[in-house]
Amino acid sequence: MSTDAPAPTILVIDDDTEVRYSLNRVLSSQRYRVQEAASGEEGVAAVKKQAPDVVLLDNRMTGMTGLETLQHIRAASPRQLVIFMTAYGTAQTAIEAMKFGAYDYVVKPFDPPKLIALVESALRTQADSKSASAYQPVVNSDEHKEGIVGTSPAMQEVFKAIGQFAASDASVMITGESGTGKELVARAIHRHSHRSAKPFVAVNCAAIPENLIESELFGHERGSFTGATAQRLGKFEQCDGGTIFLDEIGDMTPTTQTKILRVLQEGEIQRVGGVETIKVNVRVVAATNKNLEVLVQEKKFREDLYYRLNVVRVKLPPLRGRVEDVPQIVDFFLQGLVKGKKAKARKVSPEALALLCRYRWPGNVRELENVVYRSAVAATGDAILPRDLPDEVRQAGEREDAALPPDSSTTATPAASEAQAATAGTVDSLEQLAARLLAAVAAAHPGQERETLATLLGDKFPAADEAAPKKARPKKA
Ligand SMILES: Nc1ncnc2c1ncn2[C@@H]1O[C@H](COP(=O)(O)OP(=O)(O)OP(=O)(O)O)[C@@H](O)[C@H]1O
Ligand SMILES: [Mg+2]
Repeated sequence: MSTDAPAPTILVIDDDTEVRYSLNRVLSSQRYRVQEAASGEEGVAAVKKQAPDVVLLDNRMTGMTGLETLQHIRAASPRQLVIFMTAYGTAQTAIEAMKFGAYDYVVKPFDPPKLIALVESALRTQADSKSASAYQPVVNSDEHKEGIVGTSPAMQEVFKAIGQFAASDASVMITGESGTGKELVARAIHRHSHRSAKPFVAVNCAAIPENLIESELFGHERGSFTGATAQRLGKFEQCDGGTIFLDEIGDMTPTTQTKILRVLQEGEIQRVGGVETIKVNVRVVAATNKNLEVLVQEKKFREDLYYRLNVVRVKLPPLRGRVEDVPQIVDFFLQGLVKGKKAKARKVSPEALALLCRYRWPGNVRELENVVYRSAVAATGDAILPRDLPDEVRQAGEREDAALPPDSSTTATPAASEAQAATAGTVDSLEQLAARLLAAVAAAHPGQERETLATLLGDKFPAADEAAPKKARPKKA
């Protein structure tokens, strides 16, 4: 941190004179200005008047308790960082303190270096939140009625394909790894087709047991087998006039494959135990995360069915191949959570976003959705910070940092606690991320990669101006 920045102020709220004295000594020996308050009431007034950077708040005090004080502080100043202190580390106090928005919780007596590291991490959090407030959501959820977010070239191709194929009745095959949005695309195709007023029925071909599949797909007549107490319409009949979504077709058994092929060829079905043939008018959209061509070669998937289903194809790219979409998708999910009142966090700090962009997302968008949800719930403030992210996402970032050559600035100062080392690490990792993003974006937006990155990373991409090609770069006023 630069030396001419004003010293951070720490407010100590404790009714015990000795504790205030010793905390004041420990903290004043560092770069902090320390203020003291001898009661909760005094502390709340000091927060309102002086807006300290960090508050250290004791729990057991005469007059207002620490938990009550915490609630008053948060009401007066919702972003105030408060470290809660107690001599009695009960689960309940810890839970309540965190629930009421404490930044962290420490048990007395403290170990001074640890306390200082904690204060440092709180200050870093505060700096992160400030930069997060500068980060404007890039997604207007009204523009995403489709529920499919993404502006990467790969996703633009997908949108184009949806528009192009929706109008026809051709069978569509959607391929892509698990969680890339295959079902979302299938629904969009239906919604934009002339069948949109009729049903969209999804069938998970892998989930239906072999002995039930026929009745599930084609229905049955009453009394046709034990337990068939009433006539039942199958999926094909249910969606007559609409779209049937055959999901996980790569996992279909050979028998099911044969039965489905027959419907597609003949356009009619027969209920189990029935005699009449019933005409059905159904469009088929199929999806799989398997490589069907390989399955056909291995004779595990019928070639004739393959050609029936694969008239036109939509390929969904894995999320790691469209890193540029991550910030928007994150925003989209966050807005949904805020609207549904499921989480308080409505933003993500640039550092946390950088980690999200760097992770490889084996579970693709579904995994990202889950991570955003978990992190938004874990966040204590209104922004998701690196510490709120699941371990695997953070560690992926750390592993890459560890692969970097050691930087002398992170090892020189003896007083540099883990806190400072971590700050330096963050800077390194951002630069490294920028380089990786640059390569990815360059492939996708030739000639515009730096502008694209600058938009994504804002002022976290300092090299942009120097290294940008000296062309068509609008001057800032
Ligand atoms: N581009 C996107 N924008 C917003 N949300 C998305 C996007 N892609 C996927 N999702 C969301 O991610 C989740 C997974 O999508 P979906 O179920 O369509 O994936 P899938 O490809 O069918 O996965 P699987 O192969 O595991 O069935 C859903 O909640 C979906 O709404
Ligand atoms: Mg699916």
